[in-house]
Amino acid sequence: MLGQDLVPYLRAKGYDVFPTASDTLSLLETADSMQEKLEPFSPQVIIHAAAYTNVDGAEREPELTMAVNKDGTRNLALAAKALGAILVYVSTDYVFDGLKQEPYLPTDRPNPINMYGLSKYYGELMVSELMEEYYVVRTSWLYGIHRQNFVQWVLDQARTGCEIKAVTDWVGSPTWTGNLCVAIETIMNSGAFGIYHGADHGAISRYEQAKAICRAAGLSDGHVRPISSSDLNMAANRPHYSVLACPELSVPSWETGLQAYLAQYCQQSPAS
Ligand SMILES: NC(=O)c1ccc[n+]([C@@H]2O[C@H](COP(=O)([O-])OP(=O)(O)OC[C@H]3O[C@@H](n4cnc5c(N)ncnc54)[C@H](OP(=O)(O)O)[C@@H]3O)[C@@H](O)[C@H]2O)c1
Repeated sequence: MLGQDLVPYLRAKGYDVFPTASDTLSLLETADSMQEKLEPFSPQVIIHAAAYTNVDGAEREPELTMAVNKDGTRNLALAAKALGAILVYVSTDYVFDGLKQEPYLPTDRPNPINMYGLSKYYGELMVSELMEEYYVVRTSWLYGIHRQNFVQWVLDQARTGCEIKAVTDWVGSPTWTGNLCVAIETIMNSGAFGIYHGADHGAISRYEQAKAICRAAGLSDGHVRPISSSDLNMAANRPHYSVLACPELSVPSWETGLQAYLAQYCQQSPAS
């Protein structure tokens, strides 16, 4: 989802971009193999936006999750270092436990409460321990046109008049991939290596977000029903509060991101 938006965004900004996919460069390869494949491109920057991202699946497949998100990131960091490339590692709000109740700063201590969050945090540690020239960019509640996501699901349900059950006790920062592309470009040109947060501004529950999505699309929010996360019986625990503060960036609001996403979506499928 993010990678497919990053490529055209960076190309339009004048960068030479060489996209890879899981069938051309797997995170399950050795560091040497990754280095060999990347060497012909002489990359100055490697943006690592790939991951095992199925949060509930990670509870059922912890070994694969760790192999991809921890070991794969380690190997890519080693390859990047050998090539003299800067690494941008995209990470997640799920490295936090959600107990803070005010926006998390990049300096706050991670304490993941599910396997996905743990594997991504280990990925962060691999990068920061092995490299000097790196950026970790934590983002949250991502949505973009290249994959099914919460915003799209709400729109589909609302259009067909189906009930939309949405959780009141998960509060986060919904982030449009288009805004994250801008944040990543800003961060990777900053020259100040380290950990960043890149998320749209604001805090909202999934329930309030679902109602806002309906209203923004000119649809009734009358089918949106509040539920508790405990009603969902999901395999993975999720932080109740994972709002990210982005002190180094000027980030747009989640409302702006939602409007931009809807405009992009309508342009792509005019009938909707
Ligand atoms: N989505 C969110 O809400 C969210 C929130 C916070 C942070 N993030 C982070 O943001 C980044 C981008 O997320 P996204 O939502 O754009 O992810 P996504 O749509 O699920 O895409 C993940 C990509 O990783 C690739 N991948 C999976 N296993 C791989 C492997 N073994 N080797 C190489 N590639 C592999 C997938 O390829 P295949 O499709 O071919 O398997 C896919 O292209 C990730 O680092 C994620 O952890 C996402």
